[in-house]
Amino acid sequence: MNQANSASSDSNAQKRASAERAFTEIEDGSILGVGTGSTVDMLIDMLVGQKRIQIAGAVSSSERSSAKLNAAGIEVLDLNSVGELDLYIDGADECDPQGRLIKGGGAALTREKIVATASKRFLCIIDDSKEVAQLGAFPLPIEVIPMARSLVGRAIVKLGGHPAWRQGVTSDNGNWIIDVHGLNYADPDRLESDINQIPGVVANGLFTQRRADAIITSGRWREPAAD
Ligand code: 5RP
Repeated sequence: MNQANSASSDSNAQKRASAERAFTEIEDGSILGVGTGSTVDMLIDMLVGQKRIQIAGAVSSSERSSAKLNAAGIEVLDLNSVGELDLYIDGADECDPQGRLIKGGGAALTREKIVATASKRFLCIIDDSKEVAQLGAFPLPIEVIPMARSLVGRAIVKLGGHPAWRQGVTSDNGNWIIDVHGLNYADPDRLESDINQIPGVVANGLFTQRRADAIITSGRWREPAAD
């Protein structure tokens, strides 16, 4: 096995360990909030491959997860019809010691933020590579209304960032994604709010106001540190 293949098989094993630990938090008969990505795909496979826990349904954060849930015979419910959820499980692209996240590598950030915010508890499941001392090496995804792409880009430059349009990608909501490098994360809570103020921004991938309540990294559980 070459080095790249071995790193990716380590990462997959770590993601699987996190999904397995998160699986033990799911209650029989509950309605589960389901995130998006390869780690969540493993969790969905676990729900299907066992008989012990039968969830009553799921609220999904993407068409990708909905298709996988539907194929597994798990009913996908409209968030408007279920109210507050007890538990949301999702991956992340970066997680800092305080449980603040960068998400949106899979372009599902807006629905992910909605379902996370609608849930009492958000468990974040990641591999070792996602744990960072400070957010910001991963470019921050921002979902924008298409006509506002260049307007948002100019506003981001004024904030000190370097925007790149993720060409060829349309979100599940029919919008575009800008990935931003070089932002200053000294005050991530303020940065999340400032970006939200730009007209045309639908959501940004900083999860500081609705951060993770617990993080499972390669199967290891931890609570977020205080600010
Ligand atoms: C999708 C996300 C994912 O949670 C994030 O990209 C992590 O994905 P993976 O589990 O495949 O590493 O934010 O928008």
